[in-house]
Amino acid sequence: MMLSFLASGTAHGAVNPFAALAYLVSGVLFILALRGLSHPTTSRAGNRYGMAGMLIAMVTTLVTHDIANIGEIGTAILLGGIVGFTIARRIAMTDMPQLVAAFHSLVGLAAVLVAAAAFLNPDAFGILDAAGQILTVSRVELSLGAAIGAITFSGSVIAFAKLNGNMSGAPIMLPARHVINLGTLVAILGMTALYAVSPEGAAGEGWLFWAILAAAFIIGFLLIIPIGGADMPVVVSMLNSYSGWAAAAMGFTLGNTAMIITGALVGSSGAILSYIMCKAMNRSFISVIAGGFGAAADTGGGEAREQRPYKQGSADDAAFMLKQAENVIIIPGYGMAVAQAQHALREMGDLLKKEGVNVKYAIHPVAGRMPGHMNVLLAEANVPYDEVFELEDINSEFAQCDVAFIIGANDVVNPAAKTDKTSPIYGMPVFDVDKAKQVFFIKRSMGGVGYAGVDNDVFYMDQTMMLLADAKKMVEEINKALDH
Ligand code: TAP
Repeated sequence: MMLSFLASGTAHGAVNPFAALAYLVSGVLFILALRGLSHPTTSRAGNRYGMAGMLIAMVTTLVTHDIANIGEIGTAILLGGIVGFTIARRIAMTDMPQLVAAFHSLVGLAAVLVAAAAFLNPDAFGILDAAGQILTVSRVELSLGAAIGAITFSGSVIAFAKLNGNMSGAPIMLPARHVINLGTLVAILGMTALYAVSPEGAAGEGWLFWAILAAAFIIGFLLIIPIGGADMPVVVSMLNSYSGWAAAAMGFTLGNTAMIITGALVGSSGAILSYIMCKAMNRSFISVIAGGFGAAADTGGGEAREQRPYKQGSADDAAFMLKQAENVIIIPGYGMAVAQAQHALREMGDLLKKEGVNVKYAIHPVAGRMPGHMNVLLAEANVPYDEVFELEDINSEFAQCDVAFIIGANDVVNPAAKTDKTSPIYGMPVFDVDKAKQVFFIKRSMGGVGYAGVDNDVFYMDQTMMLLADAKKMVEEINKALDH
């Protein structure tokens, strides 16, 4: 009954008060979702708020618009849901950045298709004025929505290919790329303005829309190819932001308040996340969004390194010394994710706590390969939240800690970030593990490098013991030794 009440008296452009109320509720739920997702303890509730908000928004849209064929829409939702569910269940955590990039490309494409549909059939979208012309404001919305959607689509496809190894992660620097990029952007804005003011039937009005679309596809491609693999997750988050703005623009065209609110939330939160990531990686935000402006050459590593002496230990050595320690700080990184060592690590933490050792986990904002990567893995292994600390909250404690236990992290503990101005990670805030009495460093070999591809002085410090093995195997062996 509620549904038929909602559906009654709805026309394009007319705001149904019940639909407005439902969209408001879903908007509030989306805001609560973002708030919930800001902390591990509330993130599950955040996800539920988000899902409830989306369900309300979808049902409201379906029952308050003249839906031509509910069967087709239902089938599309079902098929899309099955595909999304299957992919999400199968995907490895380490492949998540490219999955997110692939999904963003679909959001961009959806915005392009909606804009094209509205352009081709404006009457059905209720965007014609009394004279039968597309409203000026709708022309601007259509052009901007289509352009941002197209940039998101082609940019996300390149980001996916780079992250997935289908193309080289090295930056591709075209000569005069900034002039080309700026010129194309100015052309898109110019054509949008021209299209907005062109009277019906004026020469070129029809193709202006398609020209804007073509230029936007090209600029999306051009903006992303000069960006190196190291900056790619920032780009993915930026593309996420673009997809939000594209959705918001299409929300205006469709007269859908929920889409405007959701698009704006995605757009602004994606931009804020990109900014936070840039700060944590010491990259210039402007250089990343401007398509590699001033980007350093690829830091893919592999440079010849001098052989320096280091100490290597065994799981038994590590277990013995860990038992003697009073305070242990564990620093997980990308290698822990690759090895899926989080469960063994939690077990190690439990065994040490039984021995009276004070155990804390230190999380760097860009440890791993995506925001919150380490938090998610530790939460999955049921590591208590009150043992997990952010960089700024724990960094001063390394001076009093007996063992800094580094498991699969590298760049985030590299002191070159503090001292070596020539290092690609110079300026990135890092953990002060060099201040700890002892450092245990788990990685598979001395030859392997971190994301930035640079050597790490911590390997060669007097107080460092290298534990060279797969992270999960090494921690399991430490656990066996601790259990005896
Ligand atoms: P990395 O510096 O990438 O180091 C990973 C370490 O794990 C390496 O030392 C590697 O050495 C080791 N490793 C890999 N597989 C392993 C396994 N199975 N067992 C044991 N060790 C293994 O990791 P990090 O310290 O977490 O730093 C993250 C880096 O990614 C930073 O440079 C950051 O800027 C960059 N980044 C992060 C993000 C986000 S949002 N998190 C986004 C973009 C870029 P071996 O190969 O010798 O084992």
